[in-house]
Amino acid sequence: MFKHVINDSLYLALLEPRHSPALFQAVDDNRDYLRRWLPWVDATQQQSDSRQFIDWSLKQFLNGNGMHTGIWFESILVGVVGFASINSSNSSGSIGYWLVESAQGNGLVTQSCRAIIRHGFCKLKLNRIEIRCAVDNSGSRRIPERLGFQYEGTLRDVEKIGERYLDHAVYSLIRRDNDISQYIQK
Ligand SMILES: CC(C)(COP(=O)(O)OP(=O)(O)OC[C@H]1O[C@@H](n2cnc3c(N)ncnc32)[C@H](O)[C@@H]1OP(=O)(O)O)[C@@H](O)C(=O)NCCC(=O)NCCS
Repeated sequence: MFKHVINDSLYLALLEPRHSPALFQAVDDNRDYLRRWLPWVDATQQQSDSRQFIDWSLKQFLNGNGMHTGIWFESILVGVVGFASINSSNSSGSIGYWLVESAQGNGLVTQSCRAIIRHGFCKLKLNRIEIRCAVDNSGSRRIPERLGFQYEGTLRDVEKIGERYLDHAVYSLIRRDNDISQYIQK
């Protein structure tokens, strides 16, 4: 299974059924923090919901339509990052991520995204990688901005979380962009 070591304390690995308890715990302990921006939090009520997500994400991985990896920091599962979707006809992928509150502010998502982007361009041979963030989610927007993505525009009322409609800022990195050389190993 996919495992990528970033440094002594940080690695990414494909989520497997045995990770369901830790994944559920991470969500359950961070509900208020996560539900502000993520639509699936209230639907995750028990460990079997996390197990169902992992089963679905593994099927998606096997079909080449996505890739969800756990983020392990100091041996604890602290979040998820990966390609929420991959469109192989268009050679494009859309990155998604979340982290438990206590682990934020250490650059973990930025470093994890770098590894995912490298995998996307070098192994999956993608041409376009996209990140969409709610316009008011400033912490999330700083990630594509830090990683050299270009802001393309805003989709209005594109996601509903609870009773709120959210606008999404769309960012992309494409193979012909100058900034991509940092991700491609020669
Ligand atoms: C949005 C979210 C993923 C950002 O997590 P984060 O920990 O702030 O992001 P990073 O791990 O990349 O860390 C960046 C911060 O760490 C700091 N940092 C420390 N070491 C760093 C390093 N080596 N590299 C980069 N940044 C580093 C940066 O200065 C930055 O701080 P700033 O945000 O005040 O500028 C996280 O807050 C989260 O999961 N929120 C809830 C769910 C969510 O919004 N998901 C995204 C939906 S689109």
